[in-house]
Amino acid sequence: MNTVESQVAYDRWHRAQGIETTSDNPWHRQIKSYLRDANLSISGKKVFEIGCGRGGFSCWLASQTPSAAQVVAADFSLAAVELGKEVGQQLGLQGIQWEQQDIQQIRHPDRSFDWVISCETIEHVPQPRKAIFELARILKPGGLLMLTHPNYFSTFGIYRVSLFLRGRKFEEEGQPINQPLRSLQVQGWLREAGLKRRHFGSRGHYSIWPGRAPCESKVLASPRWLAKWWGFHPLHVAQKSVDA
Ligand SMILES: C[S@@+](CC[C@H](N)C(=O)[O-])C[C@H]1O[C@@H](n2cnc3c(N)ncnc32)[C@H](O)[C@@H]1O
Repeated sequence: MNTVESQVAYDRWHRAQGIETTSDNPWHRQIKSYLRDANLSISGKKVFEIGCGRGGFSCWLASQTPSAAQVVAADFSLAAVELGKEVGQQLGLQGIQWEQQDIQQIRHPDRSFDWVISCETIEHVPQPRKAIFELARILKPGGLLMLTHPNYFSTFGIYRVSLFLRGRKFEEEGQPINQPLRSLQVQGWLREAGLKRRHFGSRGHYSIWPGRAPCESKVLASPRWLAKWWGFHPLHVAQKSVDA
């Protein structure tokens, strides 16, 4: 699938889903917990969220700042960005800057943002490694990247392989591209891009049985220090060196 086809597919996908205000998905909750636990405030930070979808989390971020103009919300799909803008206006968050951007080729200069956030997006692009280098490039020295993606070194990976062996296609709610990323692979790319790990954690340890809905498993989630590598929802927080 080429870039234009993927963009058209995403425009259709977002329009079908309509307005969304949620900022409470497992990956959003992880970022919120991380910010709380690390005692980090968004105040005074210039923040870029890419792959913002229909804007729910960008609106939450903007609602936490003295000025919504600190937040730039971007997505590849113009339909998503327009829906996001509508939500922002409904919530009285007029200052958010909404942009159409490709995560693999971001139109912002080097060292532009204090925080760069991307949730559940790098797995949906043809070149996820290139996307990570772009995210690192636009971070200011000392800036933080908060990145989430599904981890297929997990029971979902086993499920994906089993579908493949049965000649069936894996689908994530009809999205056009679904790369089988693994947390360790992404950590390697973050290192290659010159970023240092500040935090790594995960949620979502599911037992999967054919014909049943995935169910969270306490057994798979333990012991925590080891189980984080096979959680389905990892959060990577990585920092750019202050001398970069
Ligand atoms: C699974 S959705 C995640 C949306 C949102 N971040 C969330 O957590 O709910 C994936 C998003 O990636 C966007 N996307 C796909 N390809 C992209 C690209 N090349 N650059 C930027 N965003 C892209 C899609 O339009 C979609 O909004």
